[in-house]
Amino acid sequence: MSTQMLSNNTHTDKKILKSEDLPRHIAIIMDGNGRWALKRYLPRIAGHKAGVEAVRGVVESCAKKDIEVLTLFAFSSENWRRPEKEVGLLMELFVTALGREVNKLHKNNVKLKVIGDRLGFNARLQKGIANAEDLTKDNTGLVVVIAANYGGRWDITHAVKKLGEQIEAGEINAADITPELLDSALSLTEYPEPDLFIRTGGEKRISNFLLWQLAYTELYFTDVLWPDFNDAALEDSLTSFAGRQRRFGQTGEQVELKKGA
Ligand code: FPP
Repeated sequence: MSTQMLSNNTHTDKKILKSEDLPRHIAIIMDGNGRWALKRYLPRIAGHKAGVEAVRGVVESCAKKDIEVLTLFAFSSENWRRPEKEVGLLMELFVTALGREVNKLHKNNVKLKVIGDRLGFNARLQKGIANAEDLTKDNTGLVVVIAANYGGRWDITHAVKKLGEQIEAGEINAADITPELLDSALSLTEYPEPDLFIRTGGEKRISNFLLWQLAYTELYFTDVLWPDFNDAALEDSLTSFAGRQRRFGQTGEQVELKKGA
């Protein structure tokens, strides 16, 4: 992809991205809620609440653009280390947001999926998650994946355990293990790998997000705090993505030749 492939809209003079330049799968670390609140002399939870509004906006934009999958890092395996009160309030927020949004998501043909160790959550949240997944399971539009109590290392360890159990049961041999087989035991195996990773809030880290699945993903970091991540901020990330040449280990010349073929 190149910037020449961006066509101009003569009416607004705004760059419009062609659908073939858009990522199929976007994965986001939504960082900066706490700082957003602090700047306004508000409690951190007010930042998370504003973060939910930003989630709504990004889900709507991705659905409109026919993005296939949007994966959001809502709560990492490491977030349990936060003060107990913040963890409790975050859980409440998840339950409320799920209850409030799920019918609207369903009406808009959005499929909701949660990845991560859900057994770590209380029974009410586990039930809310199961209900939301069940209600939306046959929807064919945007897939919204919420990574909750998720960690990339947890995901890989969990997959290796599953394969280990299959070896113990005599179903496969150690020699059968290939990257493809390991991938099939991981979260998100049914979806294309993320094309674009976005992290808001200024930090330039992966922070134990989708470690395996991000192998060839384009990384985009922005200082915008998550509650401020609006349509314009999303457009900026998509424009940056559209200007990159994805080589997957090949040379630039090979990629250009293949495109011309
Ligand atoms: C990081 O900001 C954000 C989180 C740990 C929670 C993210 C949760 C939401 C956006 C709300 C709910 C999401 C869904 C899907 C319903 P931070 O607290 O680390 O910010 P800081 O770095 O400024 O302190």
